[in-house]
Amino acid sequence: MAKTDFNDRMLSLGLARVSEAASLASAAWIGRGDEKAADQAAVNAMREQLNMLDIRGTVVIGEGERDEAPMLYIGEEVGSGQGPEVDIALDPLEGTTLTAKDMPNALCVIAMAPRGTLLHAPDVYMDKLAIGPGYRDGVVTMDMTPAERVNALAAAKGASTHDITVCVLERPRHEDLIAELRTTDCAIRLITDGDVAGVIHCAEAEKTGIDMYMGSGGAPEGVLAAAALKCMGGQMYGRLTFRNDDERGRAKKAGITNLDRVYTRDDMVTSDVIFAATGVTDGSILDGIKREVGYLTAETVLMRSKTGSVRRMTYRNPT
Ligand code: FBP
Repeated sequence: MAKTDFNDRMLSLGLARVSEAASLASAAWIGRGDEKAADQAAVNAMREQLNMLDIRGTVVIGEGERDEAPMLYIGEEVGSGQGPEVDIALDPLEGTTLTAKDMPNALCVIAMAPRGTLLHAPDVYMDKLAIGPGYRDGVVTMDMTPAERVNALAAAKGASTHDITVCVLERPRHEDLIAELRTTDCAIRLITDGDVAGVIHCAEAEKTGIDMYMGSGGAPEGVLAAAALKCMGGQMYGRLTFRNDDERGRAKKAGITNLDRVYTRDDMVTSDVIFAATGVTDGSILDGIKREVGYLTAETVLMRSKTGSVRRMTYRNPT
């Protein structure tokens, strides 16, 4: 079949249905202490909806390698088999623990782009740095120390470091990072999970109060975050980090030869992309699922990088 155009405008509404379905399915597991069941419900629903879309899709960021994940594994072909050839990055439930514990900012997320344009990030950590729109390119870089980044961003914002808030995942591996940030007098928003949401927060700094995201988290989540920022505006950098040869092997298997490379947002997502996220638990970007007798309500943000459009939708689903 001839290669078809990436019809992002038509496909985007379908993409919203995919993240919505995952979120509605995981709703039954909010606050039930069962991460696996919550994730499985989201995976099943996301896959079912995805297979209804007229695409020839390949999952490039998914639930894991084929031998680890029976559904939505890396390399799985999804969609009806008709329509454009696309790459899919997804995280059916970003924040499984947040969902199980009913803590803020759990999301169902998915991004779609023409075939060959999303970084095939291996399942290793990525050191991430992100800021929102409105700053000159390179105002903060991976080469700067954390303190230098805070100083540079404060100067660019015309504010003092006291007025800068940095979002960081609360992990033992970030103790030094947090200690250095403390020397600058900036504020730190510590999150227990969910760094896709953490990065997206930077794009809506006035609403979320977060100016910059820093620290390491999953590399697959890094590509999803880059896709979101490409739609909303903002800068992002990522560098893969490796703890052992097995992880380096994963990168090589994914076709990555330069293990020290710093990826910009547009290196991770090299062409137009569409992105949808639906809230599971309440958060600062999206409301979580609301339950009322007879129906559930879900809020979705749907974005297209081609136009920079950001659409928020509320869906009421009879139960
Ligand atoms: P899950 O939803 O798969 O539990 O991932 C949540 C998350 O917090 C991501 O947002 C983040 O990138 C990653 O885990 C961090 O990994 P770790 O918990 O190993 O520090």
